[in-house]
Amino acid sequence: MSFFKKTIRDVPLSGHTVLVRVDYNVPLAQDGSISDDLRIRASIPTLQFLLARGCKIVLISHLGRPEGRDMSLSLEPAAVRLGELLEKPVVFVDDITGDEAYQAVRKAPKEGIVMLQNLRFDPGEEADDMDFAKGIAHASQADFFVQDGFGVVHRAHASTHAITLQLPSVAGLLLEREYTTITDVMEDPKRPLVAVLGGAKVSDKIGLVERFVQLADKILIGGAMANNFLAYKGIAVGKSKVEADQAEVLDAIYTAAREKVGDAVDDFIVLPSDVAVATEVDPHAARSERKVTEIGPDEQALDIGPESIDRYCRAIEGAGSVIWNGTMGVAELPNFAHGSARIALTLATHPDITSIVGGGDTADFVLKWDAKKGGSFTHVSTGGGAGLDLMAGKKLPGVESLLDAS
Ligand code: 3PG
Repeated sequence: MSFFKKTIRDVPLSGHTVLVRVDYNVPLAQDGSISDDLRIRASIPTLQFLLARGCKIVLISHLGRPEGRDMSLSLEPAAVRLGELLEKPVVFVDDITGDEAYQAVRKAPKEGIVMLQNLRFDPGEEADDMDFAKGIAHASQADFFVQDGFGVVHRAHASTHAITLQLPSVAGLLLEREYTTITDVMEDPKRPLVAVLGGAKVSDKIGLVERFVQLADKILIGGAMANNFLAYKGIAVGKSKVEADQAEVLDAIYTAAREKVGDAVDDFIVLPSDVAVATEVDPHAARSERKVTEIGPDEQALDIGPESIDRYCRAIEGAGSVIWNGTMGVAELPNFAHGSARIALTLATHPDITSIVGGGDTADFVLKWDAKKGGSFTHVSTGGGAGLDLMAGKKLPGVESLLDAS
């Protein structure tokens, strides 16, 4: 599809100062270093496009969910990492709307890059405060605003909404690519379309499951999400994580699924038949495998089992498109990463399948081992909640507020 909003290709921004909203909300290791720079790398095509047109760039982002100024969430390490990737200086200022920010931008040369401090250090960001947005526009001295933080466009914050009422606002190349890639595969997939859904919470993904009941040819459920489905079907899942009050929602999902596929519902919404369990979520816990009907009262399901892994991989091998959101177990522990690893491997070794991998944990997981840094998949999305909302068919405030293409 062609994107319905103006992008940086559609406006005369050569030689101008451009304010760019990126999503550098990157995972941090315990020592504060950046443990995965996907979001920084993904912003580079837009930045290079602007640099090639002689623009001065002012970058804004949030990092984490600070309560006020929390220097452990300063964006300075992200500025350093960006400088390394671009092989050019990135000036970082510990200021957002004040004179320090204004002067740093004023002094920056043509094709210079200035990064401002974490937007969420100011309560105006999450409040979508117009005065805060005015302050950013003033300090940045920008002529255009570019939204390229796909991961944050589901939020109506000052840097996704109010700012667009201050400056002519268009999409960057990452936002355009994320939006069109995900929308295309949802609306016109190469079939069969197989959705692989996992992760911790069913409540976060209800909208997504409902949409896939309409659009997909098969839905494979894993991770802690599967526990809810198994418990709903009356299977005793021991101490496995199960979210309360999901029965009504699951009733609605199964009713819609039966309307679509009749009695074949269990071949349509596919649940694990076996799991790997332990009594604790512990890096040293041994992996024990058993049928889902044999989970002990003290045990927790922490991964899908070998029989389920084989079934899921076979379903994936027969797919035209696969959308994978949510790991199949506690994938940060190698003993419980088997399901996620085999799914990743199956997708990576079938380049003919259109594969969209999304959701923070799932993207982190595949990037950890993929020597091609995500290149083994059609698309590794930088979006968490934004991707879920887009796939669920919701409107994204940070996209809606940009200039229309027509
Ligand atoms: C994300 O990581 O999903 C985005 O950066 C949005 O962050 P938030 O959930 O804290 O708004």
